[in-house]
Amino acid sequence: MTDQELIAAARAAALKAYAPYSNFSVGCAIESVDGTVVTGGNMENACYRLGVCAELAALTAAQAAFGLEKVARIAVAGGDGSGSELSGSEPVTPCGGCRQAILEAAQLSGQDLEIICSSGDGTRFRTHRITALIPHGFGPASLADSA
Ligand code: THU
Repeated sequence: MTDQELIAAARAAALKAYAPYSNFSVGCAIESVDGTVVTGGNMENACYRLGVCAELAALTAAQAAFGLEKVARIAVAGGDGSGSELSGSEPVTPCGGCRQAILEAAQLSGQDLEIICSSGDGTRFRTHRITALIPHGFGPASLADSA
């Protein structure tokens, strides 16, 4: 799948988000090493702190579909999802908690995973490696010395 196709999948997933409190819809698409793609959107809650980010929703779907160790590439897009297409001009990068969750998949897969961070309208995007988004991160590899 091309970068643009993975971004399109993330943008489509954002339109299925449930974000009535922030009105900021985020979608995430995750491609496996075999080319399977799963998606997720953010899901908010009246008890605000219980909201789930799109990346966590998509990682949960990835674990169910093919396993975190087979994650190959990730695209994220976010913005105004109230229309028929996601809009917004600023590329969206994963929040700190989601970077930590992506690091888990990265260390399991042994890949410095690529995250394509797109604007809602899909016109602007930047690609970052997870080690650049969360340098010196603590992940499963950090537990090597546990008893
Ligand atoms: N959000 C995500 O889904 N992913 C991120 O990486 C950043 C933030 C969601 C959480 C909340 O529902 C909304 O965007 C506004 O913060």
